[in-house]
Amino acid sequence: MPISTRTGPAGLVLSHLLQLHGIDSVVIENRSRQYVEERVRAGVLEQGTVDLLTEMGVGERMKREGLVHFGIELRFEGRGHRIDFQELTGGKGITIYAQHEVLKDLNNARIATGGQVFFEVENVAIHNFNDAQPKISYRKDGSDHELICDFIAGCDGFHGICRPSIPTGVLTEYEREYPFGWLGILADATPSSKELIYAYHDHGFALHSMRTLQIGRLYLQCDPDEDIDAWSDERIWQELQTRLGSEGWTLTEGPVLQKGITGMRSYVVEPMQYGRLFLAGDSAHIVPPTGAKGLNLAVADVQVLARALARYYATGSQSLLNEYSQTCLRRVWKVQRFSWWMTSMLHRFPDENPFDRRRQLAELDYVTSSRAAAKTLAENYVGLPMEWKTD
Ligand code: PHB
Repeated sequence: MPISTRTGPAGLVLSHLLQLHGIDSVVIENRSRQYVEERVRAGVLEQGTVDLLTEMGVGERMKREGLVHFGIELRFEGRGHRIDFQELTGGKGITIYAQHEVLKDLNNARIATGGQVFFEVENVAIHNFNDAQPKISYRKDGSDHELICDFIAGCDGFHGICRPSIPTGVLTEYEREYPFGWLGILADATPSSKELIYAYHDHGFALHSMRTLQIGRLYLQCDPDEDIDAWSDERIWQELQTRLGSEGWTLTEGPVLQKGITGMRSYVVEPMQYGRLFLAGDSAHIVPPTGAKGLNLAVADVQVLARALARYYATGSQSLLNEYSQTCLRRVWKVQRFSWWMTSMLHRFPDENPFDRRRQLAELDYVTSSRAAAKTLAENYVGLPMEWKTD
């Protein structure tokens, strides 16, 4: 009963969950395994994502190498304010463990258990997904193939082929673009703080994050069409020093290993299903990275989908499959709201006026001085509970 996906976190977690339910799937990826396993992406795992990977039996290295954090710092007007997740959420936290490390663990587990994962596949197209026998055509190692399956999981990212294959008029898109981007670096520099620092500054937002105890990951708000060549390593560090600066605190610099600019958008498509095609992860929604939610939201989608498919194969009932989109979208919109809110609170907007700036500072003051407000941030950051019917 094959289900075809791709080797991002959504596709691989889905494939693994299905295998645990005894359901076959085939994962189709146009990139090479090496590309997928080396590409630097997100790094923050919600408590629920960590728990799921552990339950799935792929959490061993994450438990060993991941960094567990029980808070973040919000820094503004030169001062830091800690949001204590552990205290505010009854013991929950987040784990810093790079997305590509999660993918390595999932690929290894899928391949070790005989899972079918095809890399470097070309010309992928999906057909007949509105009737009983969906089909995927693709080219691999110079020859054409076809795969007949029961369902297709479109876990192929924002630029993938699945969403655009749905006929015009079926989907409604909701979108907001932000008038800035993030310039991100990976640096051979010991992190200067144990926890993440989100900084609001006159020059714009900055974020101090990390991948390991030796490797820093840092970001600066920039113009969306900024020329990366205009940013020497020296200029990047200087700007990070300015925006993150705080009395009695020093930012450790080091060689820049990688740098790049990403745009920021909020995007949702409704519904997330058409016939036997189910969209999951970035193919259905994008969040700006300020809430660290993209990977976690993708994992939440496929948990809903795996459960619905397991029910279908066990009982023949399509009821959970029919509710897939609605169940996912409830969570998606709450996570969209949080990501938009964090983004709006922490960035400088080109069209802002002095009122907006005072309002942002008041918001930061409120979040860091009211327990109720801090708790709202904390419960969203560590991850909202999965809400689904328990029958
Ligand atoms: C990251 O480490 O890449 C990171 C952390 C927190 C964010 C976004 C990105 O909000």
